[in-house]
Amino acid sequence: MCGIVGYVGRQAALEVVTAGLRRLEYRGYDSAGVAVLADGVLATAKKAGKLVNLEKELGERPLPAATTGLGHTRWATHGAPNDVNAHPHLDDAGRVAVVHNGIIENFARLRAELEERGHRLTSETDTEVVSHLLAEEYSACGGLAEAMRLVCRRLEGAFTLVAVAAEEPGVVVGARRNSPLVVGVGQGEGFLASDVSAFIEYTRDAIELGQDQVVELRRDGAGGPDATGGTGGADGTGGAVAVTVTGFDGLPAEVREFHIDWDASAAEKGGYDYFMLKEIAEQPKAVADTLLGRIDGSGHLSLDELRIPPEELREVDKVVIVACGTAHHAGLIAKYAVEHWTRVPCEVDLASEFRYRDPILGPRALVIAISQSGETMDTLMALRHAREQGSKVVAICNTNGATIPRESDAVLYTHAGPEVAVASTKAFLTQLVACYLVALYLGQVRGTRSGEEIREQVRELSGIGDAVERVLETMEPVRELARSLSSRNTVLFLGRHVGHPVALEGALKLKELAYMHAEGFAAGELKHGPIALIEEGVPVVVVVPSPRDRAVLHDKIVSNIQEIRARGARTIVIAEEGDEAVVPYADHLVRIPATPPLLQPLVATVPLQVFACELATARGNEVDQPRNLAKSVTVE
Ligand code: G6P
Repeated sequence: MCGIVGYVGRQAALEVVTAGLRRLEYRGYDSAGVAVLADGVLATAKKAGKLVNLEKELGERPLPAATTGLGHTRWATHGAPNDVNAHPHLDDAGRVAVVHNGIIENFARLRAELEERGHRLTSETDTEVVSHLLAEEYSACGGLAEAMRLVCRRLEGAFTLVAVAAEEPGVVVGARRNSPLVVGVGQGEGFLASDVSAFIEYTRDAIELGQDQVVELRRDGAGGPDATGGTGGADGTGGAVAVTVTGFDGLPAEVREFHIDWDASAAEKGGYDYFMLKEIAEQPKAVADTLLGRIDGSGHLSLDELRIPPEELREVDKVVIVACGTAHHAGLIAKYAVEHWTRVPCEVDLASEFRYRDPILGPRALVIAISQSGETMDTLMALRHAREQGSKVVAICNTNGATIPRESDAVLYTHAGPEVAVASTKAFLTQLVACYLVALYLGQVRGTRSGEEIREQVRELSGIGDAVERVLETMEPVRELARSLSSRNTVLFLGRHVGHPVALEGALKLKELAYMHAEGFAAGELKHGPIALIEEGVPVVVVVPSPRDRAVLHDKIVSNIQEIRARGARTIVIAEEGDEAVVPYADHLVRIPATPPLLQPLVATVPLQVFACELATARGNEVDQPRNLAKSVTVE
């Protein structure tokens, strides 16, 4: 939800900032803008639409050469995505430029106060108040970092802010509350960004900022007030850049330095047309990596990261899963595994609804927050609510050091690597793996499953990477089918048991990517209403449970397929190899390898991802950046 980059150093700021924005464009792409600081003057360019529009503008009207700058790629909250509302925002005199991610909830009051004092605000954004407030405070205190601290204390809501001031060349200041901001520490240069992918090309040394902190990057010899309590810095040909972190109160703050363990190539398309295609293809490895180090030689699970003592896990009387979007679907699948393997009741909530239903929590409830980005505001608020009620929270997250894992009691990282396409694929599969691991571990600790049973499931999980690989090798007919359906308006998805959330995920992928009416249903529920949607030729995807150990369910879904076929549906049946009973009723048959019933989503989801991706391409849609969406949603 908005990508932010700030830079000070020895390279051309504009190039570094726009390269960073390209990597952050997944966060929002309604408009983009940059500001550079050259010879004591702030020069800006901003443009509605994708970054490419801004790049074209910069090509036609270049900005002056500079080594200090900032940039923004927007997902609009306040004000339409036009040129005026694009960031950066400046004060009336053009002394301060600001970019922002989040929502400033008290902006209307602050704006009225500013207008009373004679300021002229030109955009509809909440952000613009910050540039004016910063300019006022700057005049009073003469330092950008101090001005930022003073302004932040007056802001309500969630925000990451990055600012530069015309009178302080060589200085970039950032602040964060409830939205992400990381610092990159290079040789004689420093970076601020919403996530590390923006600067991974230049440095893999980073600093994590805490809540309510202000960071100043100051190049050696930059004018202005002295930095206090410098926490780091790097020498290079262009001199050092000092990094100073304080709380909003001005007191020096503790920070955590970390090294990024993936490189720039992991965030590149690597020969694929879209990140989504690359990420779908990476799934076998992502699944295998997520298992790595969590199973000992004897097939026993060791989840040291859980950090919740076994005695406490034995006391757990309820598991509650909170998540949004695709991560919520992972949670819905996890419920079957948790309840089956641990016999502990499990609830799954949409994080955005969780705290408003006044859930019954307490020290014996174990809450699992699933989030790829670790920054989703709805999920963060849900976990805070759970912790306030005394529950322990385990995060399942793909982003090292993000807010959700930091605020949880424990974290199990998925090792999917950077996921750039907005529609989640490999992160989903690894979230499932992590959920299975937590459920099995609970079963192990609580003794509800025998060592042999756990070893057997772990063995099966270890083979899933190969099974996914086999699915990927047989996807051409699915792509062909998708292309043939590109002019349809509706596709329905049916499933039973764990196949139901898979159907929901298949429908979500299609909505996100192909902008088609797509809905997922529990196959048994169809006859209670949705069957009225079936008419001649409507494509219906059916996820069929294994006939081996789910004979009853299997028979029922075969009946459901016949019911819809009798009403004209065109059936696309996803069934395991060897399931012959479905053959007569499948207009299109997609084979998946046989797996234990609970693990089937790991293979059954893959054709649905490929299907949605190909349909989106056939309809001429942007695969990696679907309209109106953003990958990291840091507003509620
Ligand atoms: C957004 C994305 C979805 C994602 C959801 C949850 O809505 O578009 O793809 O599933 O957020 O994101 P998270 O980072 O918390 O998993």
